[in-house]
Amino acid sequence: MKHQPIGVFDSGIGGLTVVRSLQMAMPYEDYVYLGDTARVPYGTKSPDTVRRFACEDALFLAQSGVKVIVVACNTASAWALPTLERGVDIPVFGVILPGARAALDATRGGRIGVIGTSATIRSQSYPRALLARDDTLRVYSRACPLLVPLVEEGWTHHPVTVAVLREYLEPLLRREVDTLILGCTHYPLLRDAVREVVGPGISLVDSADSCAAFVRERLEHLGLRHPDTHRVGTFEAWVTDEVERFAELASRFLGRPAEQARKIELPMLRRLP
Ligand code: DGL
Repeated sequence: MKHQPIGVFDSGIGGLTVVRSLQMAMPYEDYVYLGDTARVPYGTKSPDTVRRFACEDALFLAQSGVKVIVVACNTASAWALPTLERGVDIPVFGVILPGARAALDATRGGRIGVIGTSATIRSQSYPRALLARDDTLRVYSRACPLLVPLVEEGWTHHPVTVAVLREYLEPLLRREVDTLILGCTHYPLLRDAVREVVGPGISLVDSADSCAAFVRERLEHLGLRHPDTHRVGTFEAWVTDEVERFAELASRFLGRPAEQARKIELPMLRRLP
């Protein structure tokens, strides 16, 4: 098992921010990535649809022989994690719990803001994870549906994006949050723009970085870390829509030129219970 790759899936290409953080934390592991680019976005879809898509994504990875599955997509983590944990017989890790833990470590005054897709915010997953650990916290959430298309357009530093961020973040700033969870695969690319809007005093919690630290800790705990930590691992990408679009966008999310992706057809086989 230790020699098997880590499987990572997302609704599209955004999850490559999580791969980037995973590769920084564990360069010696091999990775298999699935981006469901034919059906992105998940963030505007219903819980049932998100669960069904996530199950198909996870089954594909499980059948390709990965040792664990990382659900890079916040929306899928928010709605599908318990179903996935029941349905596959390898460990499944999401991004919500690591993000919540990192926010708890970061907060000084116990006032935490969360931004994400409409579906993630609707799920209340972050507030639930936070308040289960400390019920004195104040948690304020805001859905930011315009941010994913702006990032995919490459407008990460554009004045329009900064204006949109000001509009979205204003109610959270009014509540004087001291920590902000960037609860979406695309938001690590907006870190600078968010910083410009919120100023220097607020801690930004990146769900990609916190997830990578969490997965490393869990692999070590489970005895699943690759035994040769001096090697450089491989990366293999699968998508459900045309590979050209993936190639165009992937390097921006990955922070380096991306390997050629291959295309697969989902839905697969059977549904999880
Ligand atoms: N990957 C999604 C997330 O992190 C964002 C894109 C989408 O809506 O599918 O929530």
